[in-house]
Amino acid sequence: MKLLFKGAQIIDPANGVNMVGDLLVENGKIKAVDKEINLDKAEIIDLTGKILCPGFIDMHVHLREPGFEYKEDITTGSRAAAAGGFTTICCMPNTSPVIDNGAVASFVRDRGKRTGLVNVLPIGSITKKQAGNELSPVAEMVTAGCIAISDDGKPVMRGDIMRNALEYAKMFDLPVLAHCEDLNLSRDGQMHEGYYSTIYGLKGIPAAAEEVMVARDIILAGLTGGRLHICHVSTSGTLELIRQARQEGIRVTCEVTPHHLILTDQAVGSYDADTKVNPPLRSLEHVQALREALQEGLIDAIATDHAPHQFEEKDCEYNLAMSGISGLETAVALIMDCLVIPGYLDIEQMVKAFTCGPAAILGLKQGRLDIGAPADITVIDPEIVKSVDPAQFNSKGKNTPFKGMNLKGWPCLTMVGGRIVARDGQIMG
Ligand code: DOR
Ligand code: ZN
Repeated sequence: MKLLFKGAQIIDPANGVNMVGDLLVENGKIKAVDKEINLDKAEIIDLTGKILCPGFIDMHVHLREPGFEYKEDITTGSRAAAAGGFTTICCMPNTSPVIDNGAVASFVRDRGKRTGLVNVLPIGSITKKQAGNELSPVAEMVTAGCIAISDDGKPVMRGDIMRNALEYAKMFDLPVLAHCEDLNLSRDGQMHEGYYSTIYGLKGIPAAAEEVMVARDIILAGLTGGRLHICHVSTSGTLELIRQARQEGIRVTCEVTPHHLILTDQAVGSYDADTKVNPPLRSLEHVQALREALQEGLIDAIATDHAPHQFEEKDCEYNLAMSGISGLETAVALIMDCLVIPGYLDIEQMVKAFTCGPAAILGLKQGRLDIGAPADITVIDPEIVKSVDPAQFNSKGKNTPFKGMNLKGWPCLTMVGGRIVARDGQIMG
């Protein structure tokens, strides 16, 4: 079984490739990448004018299964990922039960495999039940396939526990994915603390609620030599702390979400609860700092923090609504339309942040077009214009503040292990 992609702009940052060329897939693997490949007996897909990349990795999604299947399950989440151009997704452990042992991790991995659309990699919790008091069994979770640990959704408030987590994870060369939030500073907060929180009359969450925990965790990473990864960075102060830590040789990486790159706290003025997210949408100066840091390479990855919720959980007073945005099916188009096409972000930089950036953090072999590797491929059509219609989402979560927005540049083909799993947003087979 041979399949030949012809005439695409091939962008593979890990291998230093950015050229118009062809790519041959044979028996599920990448067989050749070259300026021109000609074969008689191959199915040919013409990709003239399109961008072919290594399969995109989303290192931060909430698939909600087990326990919250009314919000999302592993099958619908996998379909959303495939439609959104992602070939590998890493799912957070804030399920019920929590992914805090080998059995639950195996369950998630097996469900992902059985769905058979994209690679689903579980993330184990840092603490049992994510209660913050006792470490989860890291070795057991690693054996069951966990690729990182995180208590995401909640911070690890106790410094001694975070210290031990970094120490333990280091033995397995695992990154600790930190949700940085001082709950005593963020309590009851609904949006970013600043001009607009005053105008809108909603209790604010100061940038400091994130930054004090980033500072603590960086100091603990320095103390232990562990690998720290900061989830969903949202403030300029966080970026400065990371910059300084790296200069000192501390092992720290970070990710940013599309919504924190594109929306400001002004958007909360609609009182549409789909703008409620944690960390909150920040002010323009923070958004600008995030954009610059992504272009510069200080930010390693773009991750969606895909957080699907049920309609009723958002269709209520702002104060009562759940936090989170359903992000898998809009991420690529948002970055293309709002950042790449207007010239705020180079396309290579975008592809890095969706491929080899997260792969390096997690120690994955994915994220590059190596000869002989499984053919995980994402193709983008920079010319397609579509509006965001949550009713068309594969995800059960229709909660997006981007609904109705017209975007240019969408993923048009997703291939996992040599099989086309989505085309033009439609799931195949
Ligand atoms: O907005 C958010 N939603 N932020 C988080 O940290 C957790 C997530 C969720 O699980 O809904
Ligand atoms: Zn999250």
